[in-house]
Amino acid sequence: MRISVFGAGYLGAIHATCMAHLGHDVTVCDVDAPKVALLSSGHTPFFEPGFEELLQATLASGRLVFTGSADEAVRGAEMHFICVGTPQQQGADAADLRYVEAAFNTIVDNVDVSGTIVGKSTVPVGTAQRLAGLVSERGEDDPHLEVAWNPEFLREGTAIQDTLNPDRLVFGVDSQTSEKAMTEVYAKLINDGTPYITTDLATAEMVKVAANSFLATKISFINAMAEICEVASADVVTLSRALGYDDRIGSKFLNAGLGFGGGCLPKDIRAFSARAGELGAADAVSFLREIDKINQRRRERVISIVGNIFHGDFLGRHIAVLGAAFKPNSDDVRDSPALNVAATMHLKGASVCVHDPQAIDNARRMFPTLTYCGSLKDACRDADLIVLATEWGEYRNIDPNEFRALVRQPILVDARNALDHNYWSESGWQVHALGRGVLNR
Ligand code: UGA
Repeated sequence: MRISVFGAGYLGAIHATCMAHLGHDVTVCDVDAPKVALLSSGHTPFFEPGFEELLQATLASGRLVFTGSADEAVRGAEMHFICVGTPQQQGADAADLRYVEAAFNTIVDNVDVSGTIVGKSTVPVGTAQRLAGLVSERGEDDPHLEVAWNPEFLREGTAIQDTLNPDRLVFGVDSQTSEKAMTEVYAKLINDGTPYITTDLATAEMVKVAANSFLATKISFINAMAEICEVASADVVTLSRALGYDDRIGSKFLNAGLGFGGGCLPKDIRAFSARAGELGAADAVSFLREIDKINQRRRERVISIVGNIFHGDFLGRHIAVLGAAFKPNSDDVRDSPALNVAATMHLKGASVCVHDPQAIDNARRMFPTLTYCGSLKDACRDADLIVLATEWGEYRNIDPNEFRALVRQPILVDARNALDHNYWSESGWQVHALGRGVLNR
């Protein structure tokens, strides 16, 4: 199928590359000329395991093109994917839809053959129906357009796998024509056994925000238990393991720690609350505000643990923060809990050195006043305290005996419950962690 993709950001670049990998002819349009040039030359503007290799192989096949020209992307295409961002509005909780609307209008203005516009961006429920209403008003001589919604569930760090082997596909459609188009474009995955659900536009939009809300709720649930464990001398890691054995609960997304960040979960639960309010159903999701608060409190808790260790005096303390990305295997620092903690300690007067295997450049752009260190050992040298804030694999391999010789004081705050606390304690470290009231007995 001949496809256009609007937006060469995280979602668009990966979706387009995977669609071309599946055999479609894909042209991606983005207004960011340097990004278009970079991707066209086979280089990625962000870190994602396996992406650069797949991008280069797919570009070599000739089925994937990046361009700044909307006309070039849209011309002759039967399906147009909208993959642009829907960030949080400045000063409000709601999603900013200006990029979705701009992409939609650009497609409508440029189409020369009949086709389907498929939204993948996360939008407030009701958006697709509204856009579908706009295309239905087109003149009889214009090429016929359908609108469908196909929410995206890929995770940063495992995006290729999530796109090529998804748990499920969801098609929001309002006609048999667009249902047929959706099953055709994903025919390879469907033939490979990927389950798919065809539904109306509103339900498809809801699936995405409900899924992210559920995941955020699960994380904040275990972090709320961590708060209780801290005051009850109980252990949230053992609690989580014991809960996870129950099939109905499951162990995934039940890791207590510094909580969720990134460009999706925090803004999606806020946008969902805002939309529910507009629809007169604010009470139904008022718990999401609590989920958000629990999540924010974890960041404050790390600051208070460090503050207690230093008797409230951060001034001149050397603190190494391990991790800047919002999660491992990503260089994304949007709403990163790790950077939030690092920046807060810096503002309180500490001298903070941040290490991250991939996210330093992005972190520096966001918080230029923090000190960044490319070497893990240099970051920890002469530290009064180490905070593990993002659980990158390489941090699990740190030898506590070796690092004890590097630091000024062997004090560890494991904000992700990622390390072997017994081993670190036996190696002479004072260990603090979230939800481990047991450590303070
Ligand atoms: C999330 C969803 O998982 C994807 O399905 C969705 O497609 C994506 O948002 C999106 O809306 O585009 P992502 O933001 O890449 O994906 O990251 P997650 O793996 O969901 O992690 C989110 C945050 O939760 C991270 O900060 C992570 O450290 C934290 N987390 C995760 C925990 O604190 N505890 C856990 O047990 C799991």
